[in-house]
Amino acid sequence: MHSPSQIKAHYNFTNADAANLKRLAPIMERHRDEFVIEFYDYVKHFEEANKFLKDDATIKRHQDALKIWFMDLFNGEYGDAYYKGLEKVGLAHVKINLHAHYVNAAFHFVKAFAQGIIRREIGDREDGVALGRSVEKILDINLDVFTSSYIEEEKKVFVSLKVESYLIQMANRFSHGLNIILVMGLVILGILGIGLFVYDLLHILDGEIEKGLLSTLGSLLMLWVVIELMDTEIKHLKGGKFAVKVFVSVALVAMIRKILIASLKSGAVEAQLSLIAAVAVLGFIYWLISKTESAH
Ligand code: HEM
Repeated sequence: MHSPSQIKAHYNFTNADAANLKRLAPIMERHRDEFVIEFYDYVKHFEEANKFLKDDATIKRHQDALKIWFMDLFNGEYGDAYYKGLEKVGLAHVKINLHAHYVNAAFHFVKAFAQGIIRREIGDREDGVALGRSVEKILDINLDVFTSSYIEEEKKVFVSLKVESYLIQMANRFSHGLNIILVMGLVILGILGIGLFVYDLLHILDGEIEKGLLSTLGSLLMLWVVIELMDTEIKHLKGGKFAVKVFVSVALVAMIRKILIASLKSGAVEAQLSLIAAVAVLGFIYWLISKTESAH
């Protein structure tokens, strides 16, 4: 990490720049609220904006923080405390996993906005150009500190970056391979399930009709489980999030099938009661998961 004075030197940021920015403070103050509104108009088109700026409370916090950040650009004081503050903001974005690309793109807007104000408000062209240059320097410095947070975060290495990224890549590939094997296994199970269902259907009239019907229903339920699992796995492969719900539903179906079979045997009332209790518990868990999922 570079020191504040090194950074300033590398961007040729002088006391004259600091004075220029301070001069702009009262002008920018008048456009502070407009800045936040236009900033939001700009970033709301980013694909993932909703994911990060997810509720009114977060948006309000961000907008307030943005106003302070914007005005601090024209504070005239760019010492250690200023850089510490910038590092904190940079880290805040790294921590929420916001891609650096979006921060860069947002800076593109800020630059254009600030230059637009200068063009409108500063009559003297030469003066405007000088002020614009100072704004550009402080914004470049800001972006530099913000992006350094990302790089610092990425630098965490255990043995060697090359070995580690190779290992991660291999592990990724391996897990993808396992997933593909899982899908193939599910396809085979699906085919077997169809076979069993057809077999049951053909033998429905062979013995007791009730027994035949129930075992056909059982094989249909198993087929449904395979479909559900395959659906979840495909969604997972396409980058969807992991669904716990499907495992509970598989357990539920297995229990229901057991009840169907147990209901054929007379005298197994106790066994049936414990199965019914298990279904009730699983059903409750299933309901809880559905409820929390729909709340998100
Ligand atoms: C010029 C670019 C940006 C600036 C100057 C900026 C400024 C800030 C500041 C000052 C904070 C508060 C940091 C702290 O807690 O100490 C913050 C947090 C945050 N920023 Fe940004 N931001 C920028 C771009 C973005 C973009 C493009 C997004 C999303 C699309 C975003 C999303 C967030 C979120 C979600 C937080 C955390 C808010 C919270 O939960 O309190 N920011 N940002």
